[in-house]
Amino acid sequence: MKVSKLTIGNKNMNYPIFIGSGILNSIKKRIREYCPETKKIALVIDKNIPFKYKKEIKQRLSSFEIYTFEYSVNENLKSFTKTNNLVEKLLKRNFNRNDTLIAVGGGIIGDFSGFVASITKRGINFINLPTTLLAQVDSSIGGKTGINSNMGKNLIGSFYQPKLVLTELNFLKSLSKRNIICGFAEILKHALIHDSNFFIWIKKNSKNILENLNLSIMREAILKSCKIKFYFVSKDEKEKNIRMILNFGHTFAHAIEAANGFSRKINHGEAVLIGMILATRLSFKKKTCSFSTLDKIEDFYKKNNLPMKIQKKLKKNNFKQIINFMGKDKKNNDERINFILLKKIGKTCQPGKFKIPKKNMGSILKKIN
Ligand SMILES: NC(=O)c1ccc[n+]([C@@H]2O[C@H](COP(=O)([O-])OP(=O)(O)OC[C@H]3O[C@@H](n4cnc5c(N)ncnc54)[C@H](O)[C@@H]3O)[C@@H](O)[C@H]2O)c1
Repeated sequence: MKVSKLTIGNKNMNYPIFIGSGILNSIKKRIREYCPETKKIALVIDKNIPFKYKKEIKQRLSSFEIYTFEYSVNENLKSFTKTNNLVEKLLKRNFNRNDTLIAVGGGIIGDFSGFVASITKRGINFINLPTTLLAQVDSSIGGKTGINSNMGKNLIGSFYQPKLVLTELNFLKSLSKRNIICGFAEILKHALIHDSNFFIWIKKNSKNILENLNLSIMREAILKSCKIKFYFVSKDEKEKNIRMILNFGHTFAHAIEAANGFSRKINHGEAVLIGMILATRLSFKKKTCSFSTLDKIEDFYKKNNLPMKIQKKLKKNNFKQIINFMGKDKKNNDERINFILLKKIGKTCQPGKFKIPKKNMGSILKKIN
């Protein structure tokens, strides 16, 4: 299969993403190319990655001094305790700035280990091998790293760019359907906020992505998604303005996840799917988008059996808690909640334009859910 190379490059970041099947073959060569001084490697790896890939990666890196750190993955990994523990282990083994941390896992492993790489000696090399669809289309691009706080998700972190991303499509073969849907949510988001033709393409290929796992179609979807994410990230790395558009649906999503204690009952992508439909309904209510836009999106959800309602996912329909968490979202800069609303498929309103006072959210949420 063809390998696609996308360069994430502007004045602040410059690294390639290789997307294809069988690209683990070239991992050693790529490290020599992009982190040439590396002697030690910390392999931070998700326990759920099939053994054959773990073995292959270790074999291919055997000429380096390699330390493996395997984790059972859940949101609790994104904590200060776990961060401190890994940083201390790297310091004990005398990792320095020429050495390299390689993340092999989904968004949780990527966020956690990117953060560790960014603070260890103020930054050691970081390479990302995203193994979930969500990580391949979203979290491996843009340099956001971080951990959670009791006050909410991803509230502690840094911006830290990898030296290289290797997106091996074969990793997707062992991923659960639920996690494929999770990445699909972000692919869909990229189309909804920026590219109506991509939405049409997704409508045509949704079964190939969600059911058949057609790897060439996946490669196209991932490449297109990465390009859209890069478009926003490159214009506004530190999320002061236009990058906030990538948060379409996420104000709801993060609050839904937090109100559910980040449990496995609802995963990030499911929350994003619900969040995007709520944000579209809010857009219609606020008259920024037409009924036809809302209808097309709802129709797409129904045809693909995507989650649309908070109640279906949360036992206790605790809107109050959800609203409290929305109020803590880091995009708010006053007592109002900041939303990204849709104008039409492929275009949103400007960030910061729609702010709703917390006290009004209860009645709104009841109407749009
Ligand atoms: N940094 C960013 O820009 C950014 C963007 C979006 C999301 N995120 C973060 O990403 C996280 C969610 O990431 P995720 O959806 O990848 O979840 P995840 O990392 O929890 O992975 C999902 C599940 O899949 C398993 N898994 C991973 N790869 C596998 C494989 N190849 N085969 C079988 N099982 C595999 C994991 O063990 C886990 O159980 C959240 O913490 C979210 O906040 C970060």
